[in-house]
Amino acid sequence: MRKNIVAGNWKMNKNLQEGIALAKELNEALTADKPNCDVVICTPFIHLASVTPIVDAAIIGVGAENCADKVSGAYTGEVSAEMVASTGAQYVILGHSERRSYYGETVEILEEKVKLALANNLTPIFCIGEVLEERQAEKQNEVVAAQLASVFTLSAEDFGKIILAYEPVWAIGTGLTATPEQAQDIHAYIRSLIAEKYGQEVAENCSILYGGSCKPSNAKELFANPDVDGGLIGGAALKVADFKGIIDAFK
Ligand code: 13P
Repeated sequence: MRKNIVAGNWKMNKNLQEGIALAKELNEALTADKPNCDVVICTPFIHLASVTPIVDAAIIGVGAENCADKVSGAYTGEVSAEMVASTGAQYVILGHSERRSYYGETVEILEEKVKLALANNLTPIFCIGEVLEERQAEKQNEVVAAQLASVFTLSAEDFGKIILAYEPVWAIGTGLTATPEQAQDIHAYIRSLIAEKYGQEVAENCSILYGGSCKPSNAKELFANPDVDGGLIGGAALKVADFKGIIDAFK
């Protein structure tokens, strides 16, 4: 069965002490009032080893925001999927639009990253989504279909282990959100591509999250759509009240 998931992406925010405090506060809030969905926090690399032991793994999963496209060796400054897994983290965001646009991550690089994440038993949260000009030109379907090439070389079994996140770039950090109809339309299209490639059952079981200015006030109507299985949350994941407000959309 497909899971409902709310995942936070802290991006490059919070120093170590602040991150630990945020994780503790979230853990307390969700221990006191248990979520009705899976909850994941994806933190900067340096937080992972400190955050994993302080959250209840039955309630909160922990993930990285990226990993290297190489196994190990002379790649100064990089962090491998194996290193991420060794902290106790179980997830990794891959293909975020900020990585694609600022750090030149291509379909091919991302294919390597996804494979290495899976080889190290990490669950990739694989992001796709169009920029504003592409949406205005009504090219969003073509764009996401091309981005899915990174994961469409996986076996059906491996594809079944990944989570997808549709994040329209024009909605990220802008306060603009896709309407529930826009989200549902493209999520249904993404699911149809999965069904074409891997069959109906794999498509039905794949969680597809929405990301882009998701907040407590719009989460419920976004998640109410049949093909929207939760959210990937940026800014609102940095405050426990906001993040919990989004998690509570599933109550
Ligand atoms: P915002 O929620 O801040 O728009 O960011 C979304 C995002 O990029 C999550 O990965």
